[in-house]
Amino acid sequence: MDADAIARWQSDATLIMRVRTAVIGAGLMGREHIKWLQRVPEAEVVAVVDPHQPSAATAAALVEPEARAFQDMEEMLAATAPEYVVVASPPRFHAQQAIAAFEAGAHVLCEKPLCMSVAEAEAMEQAATQAGRLFTMGLQTRQSPAEQAVRRFLVAGGLGQIYHTRVWGGHVMSYPWGRFFHREDMSLGGVLAATTVHPLDAVYWLLGAPEPVTVSASTFRRIDKMPDPPIHFEGEISEVSVEDFGHGHVRFADGTSMSIEGNWLQHPRTRGHGWEIHGTLGVVQDVAPYAALDQQQEVTPVELDIDDEPESRTMAQHTAFLRAIRGDTPPAVSWREAIGVQRILNAMYESAESGAEVRL
Ligand SMILES: NC(=O)c1ccc[n+]([C@@H]2O[C@H](COP(=O)([O-])OP(=O)(O)OC[C@H]3O[C@@H](n4cnc5c(N)ncnc54)[C@H](O)[C@@H]3O)[C@@H](O)[C@H]2O)c1
Repeated sequence: MDADAIARWQSDATLIMRVRTAVIGAGLMGREHIKWLQRVPEAEVVAVVDPHQPSAATAAALVEPEARAFQDMEEMLAATAPEYVVVASPPRFHAQQAIAAFEAGAHVLCEKPLCMSVAEAEAMEQAATQAGRLFTMGLQTRQSPAEQAVRRFLVAGGLGQIYHTRVWGGHVMSYPWGRFFHREDMSLGGVLAATTVHPLDAVYWLLGAPEPVTVSASTFRRIDKMPDPPIHFEGEISEVSVEDFGHGHVRFADGTSMSIEGNWLQHPRTRGHGWEIHGTLGVVQDVAPYAALDQQQEVTPVELDIDDEPESRTMAQHTAFLRAIRGDTPPAVSWREAIGVQRILNAMYESAESGAEVRL
């Protein structure tokens, strides 16, 4: 075979061993995963699980040729033996479903937030380790070429000694639209767990996952006190049991500190998501991203070497994880990072509830 023929052969999706994939939860995010998984030549969506039968059937029909729809995950695991399971159900079910998938021999991508407690997170890690299976999370900002360039810059010591970070994330006057985001029993919490978790994870990863030592936080629920609340979810305002504002301060064992802020009901002129990393030589911000080194009153902008943005970060995260499953690279998200973020989130809620600092 000549080089052209080999290239054609390698790019022919029909000749690639496709990884049998199941998607758990056929809501907004489950359907987003299905959409992009179909564009990944190495993946084949064989099953969709959702206890709500019409949702499972509609999502399964999005797959070409149609995937099998199930209402029960155990039944799906027994019938289709997937090698890759994407958990996109409400967070309350993440741990039990990921553990069931690991025990059935599958690799798992779990949506954020990881789960409801640190104990659940540790049980997930144990199940993955025992089964010898890989794990990653639905944290698609990890596929951001800009953040990857910032990471290279920080690892090379570009910012000197990092001493403080700020992360904030939320929406401008917009409550999430799903069926469960407003319920603590299904979603762990509100804006901090569902939305601020993205920039929190990004910066925690950029810092190299230091050990959190103390966490202090406060939260507030504004929506049920507003004269004309912006309700986008399916449900009643009386069911809302999560915060729509939260603020916290974390001290890490390496001496750095982090300020975390989340707000779903931000004033229309506020910037929705962001982060800043402060070091002894200067600052990096997510804007563009902007890196600058201080010279007294002056700053020197730093040119970062940023790759092209992928067509879809969700698609890129599946491609990256399938490469990890093939053994080419480590998964994008490590257990240390995932459990570190879970510890910070749970400690923020504990501190807000008790009104006292939590020592980890
Ligand atoms: N990475 C991201 O950018 C992103 C964006 C949105 C949502 N998410 C995450 O995805 C997950 C799902 O969120 P969503 O927006 O799709 O919510 P959604 O409310 O749109 O859908 C949730 C779906 O889960 C189904 N479900 C309920 N119980 C289930 C169970 N036991 N097993 C399987 N399915 C079950 C529901 O019937 C519903 O179809 C959450 O963890 C959320 O935080 C991630």
